[in-house]
Amino acid sequence: MENTTIWLDKQDNRKVCVIDQRYLPHKFCTFEITCVAEAATAIRDMVVRGAPLIGVTAAYGMYFATLEANADSCEQDLQTAADTLAKTRPTAVNLKWAIHEQLSAISEVEDLESKRQVALRNAQKIANDDTAACKKIGEHGVELIREISAKKSGPVNILTHCNAGWLACINWGTATSPIYHAFLENIPIHVWVDETRPRNQGANLTAWEMQQRGVPHTVIVDNTGGHLMQHGLVDIVITGADRVTRGGDAANKIGTYLKALAAKDNDIPFYIALPTSTIDWQIEDGVKEIPIEERNQDEVKYIQGLCDGEIKKVLLTPPESPAKNYGFDVTPARLITGFITEEGIHDKICQLQKQENN
Ligand code: MRU
Repeated sequence: MENTTIWLDKQDNRKVCVIDQRYLPHKFCTFEITCVAEAATAIRDMVVRGAPLIGVTAAYGMYFATLEANADSCEQDLQTAADTLAKTRPTAVNLKWAIHEQLSAISEVEDLESKRQVALRNAQKIANDDTAACKKIGEHGVELIREISAKKSGPVNILTHCNAGWLACINWGTATSPIYHAFLENIPIHVWVDETRPRNQGANLTAWEMQQRGVPHTVIVDNTGGHLMQHGLVDIVITGADRVTRGGDAANKIGTYLKALAAKDNDIPFYIALPTSTIDWQIEDGVKEIPIEERNQDEVKYIQGLCDGEIKKVLLTPPESPAKNYGFDVTPARLITGFITEEGIHDKICQLQKQENN
């Protein structure tokens, strides 16, 4: 698949362009990043979003940090930039992982010019590695869809939450990669797309991705999944993740936990698709230890859409009613059937750790 969410400007290698995801599907436009502050703004304001993509954006942010650093205060300048970028969004571990990858690559060379070259090359490598990992996730994950398809007539019904598509990564996506691979193999599939309030990444972004590719899909409100599952209309649930602990608890967009509970109650396989850069090996208990982002209450109180050809925000609540906006929740490992990574499909995250230690 030929997609990319972030690229270095061909004429000016001090400029990175991204798809501005705040206006899709109604308007396709790009956003330019030329400094650390703009990289931080793009992540914080969700111009870019999705765990792998915010990691890659932060990696380019660290490249800009090398361009902005002074030779005599280089280490301190880079650390300040790293702290600024790391603070933008707390839940997805890919952000801190990518910053750490950059700091350790940059520290291996001495002079500032070499640091700049290394930071640029490494940002591009992190992006390319993500694409390769997502492709592999699809190659492994399609096996699950193939198996279900072999046992039933009609399309395999896959439910997904939020957008863990190519827009959340560089290409392919995580949860969507098995879907795209199945579609390219002509396996009959149909995707239930949770709208994913409050920011509607499902209705806006996943639906747009599916529609662009011609993948059969239906957008549903967030509370529909349980009903569909009770009536045999969901064969498998696949979502992405922002952070998975070594114990296998998975933080993903708010509402994922409820889908996992409903899937368990209805004996429906529930899979998390993730690159291994989304694993936080430092922590075990996701509910206690994963920081959950809280965003502005206005994202709950208002809804954005197209009205008379213009993108507008509409107030849903009494203006005075307070709202609470948790960005993510944690699905405990006991509700997760398995993890689809670039390494294969695993029942438990510790099986991956064993491989790493081998
Ligand atoms: O708040 P967002 O849009 O950044 O949340 C994105 C998700 O929850 C995705 O499911 C997750 O990052 C996995 S992306 C491959």
